[in-house]
Amino acid sequence: MTKLDTKALDKVIARYEGKPGRLLSILEDAQKLDEHQYLSTSALEYVSEKTGIPLSRIYSVVTFYAFFSLKPRGDHSITVCRGTACHTRGSKKMLDYLKQILDLKEDESSGQQSKVFLTTKDNQFTLMTVACFGQCALAPVVEIDGTIYSNVTERKLKGLIDNIRRKGKNKK
Ligand code: FES
Repeated sequence: MTKLDTKALDKVIARYEGKPGRLLSILEDAQKLDEHQYLSTSALEYVSEKTGIPLSRIYSVVTFYAFFSLKPRGDHSITVCRGTACHTRGSKKMLDYLKQILDLKEDESSGQQSKVFLTTKDNQFTLMTVACFGQCALAPVVEIDGTIYSNVTERKLKGLIDNIRRKGKNKK
């Protein structure tokens, strides 16, 4: 687990002092600070203490927005859209295929609106779902490390995952 960098968090909080909508900006930057790209309980408690914003309000914001995570993420994130358009065009099949090739058998819930949130044992990949990317005409849509891929197929996904794995190995 990442150690809480209170100095960096203090800077983030100071950056948005007095600005409208500061909570969202603070949380967004706080999540980026963490090497596993998530908001730990201690980080949220710290933000609450320093800003005076009740912890309950902070949690309601964090659980409302899909881009916040309360669990550590793997090195690479894969998000499968489960909206109607993507579902109709096979997103469930894509999700099942990704679980299979990433060896993610347990369908545990993240506790955040029952979305999928699974991380591989080697911590390399986190598989998630989202309600809609707003790119329905391009369904099925999958986002990998911030890049949106449209009209995905099992073959395309396999190629993308293999590529990430290859790059990971070449680094060592
Ligand atoms: S339903 Fe998948 S992008 Fe909208």
